[in-house]
Amino acid sequence: MSTPVLETENLAKVYGRGASRFDALKGLTFEIHDGESVAIVGKSGSGKSTLMHLLALLDEPTSGVVALDGQPVSQLEPKKISRLRNETFGFVFQQFFLNANQTVLENVTLPLKIAGLSKADRHARGLEVLEQLEIADKAKNRATDLSGGQKQRVCIARALVNRPSVIFADEPTGNLDSTTSEVVEDILFGLHRDQGITLVVVTHDEDLAGRCERRLMMQDGLIVAEEHGVVTEGQLDTTFDPAQLGVEDERGQA
Ligand SMILES: Nc1ncnc2c1ncn2[C@@H]1O[C@H](COP(=O)(O)OP(=O)(O)O)[C@@H](O)[C@H]1O
Ligand SMILES: [Mg+2]
Repeated sequence: MSTPVLETENLAKVYGRGASRFDALKGLTFEIHDGESVAIVGKSGSGKSTLMHLLALLDEPTSGVVALDGQPVSQLEPKKISRLRNETFGFVFQQFFLNANQTVLENVTLPLKIAGLSKADRHARGLEVLEQLEIADKAKNRATDLSGGQKQRVCIARALVNRPSVIFADEPTGNLDSTTSEVVEDILFGLHRDQGITLVVVTHDEDLAGRCERRLMMQDGLIVAEEHGVVTEGQLDTTFDPAQLGVEDERGQA
């Protein structure tokens, strides 16, 4: 397989201190390869979003390493990290995070503004991705005057506008009905297939997880199991038992 685009080593995240200390991630070591689709699955509170934030360089680990294209990120200047994040990653979140006071086009071209492109270039590129997502007719609408599915398309357009090599999606279909979810999934996996974009999807939707080439199962801040291969509908076994895999749980019991 190709080189890892992202690698972690013994990644840990602790929130709070003293009596309110919470170990959200307890030492994770794994790789994500260029062009892969990977689902991070697990119950609510298992640490999925925390892990995604660390991988996406949106937050710093308490200890351990995140490396991007073989380079440990902690060795880089904060400015360089911001630039890398903006150039390399696209983000799609369950809550959309669209600016209500801006048009669809302005929302979509925000990453280009951060990157310092001229207004003309921003508009041309913004319209191109809106067309790709078949929503260019809404370019001048307020971002909030859209249906849930349309909003998520706008978010995907914004995620794509910088031609990222990795798209991180945190519960991208969490706020959508099942028909709209399928459309959004098809768009994401189409980008993965046709443009070779690496997909890292946080989800507890079994169908969405099953469409990914690999699944990392999280429980209590640890990866307790890993599955390979796309799973066709109804075949995904989510009733994994860590003991069967010889993975030790917190009490040190296999
Ligand atoms: N900023 C924070 N401060 C304190 N605890 C947090 C913070 N963010 C997340 N947590 C806790 O860390 C655990 C993992 O959270 P999260 O990564 O959001 O889980 P998931 O995405 O799997 O639902 C949860 O118990 C959550 O309450
Ligand atoms: Mg979450």
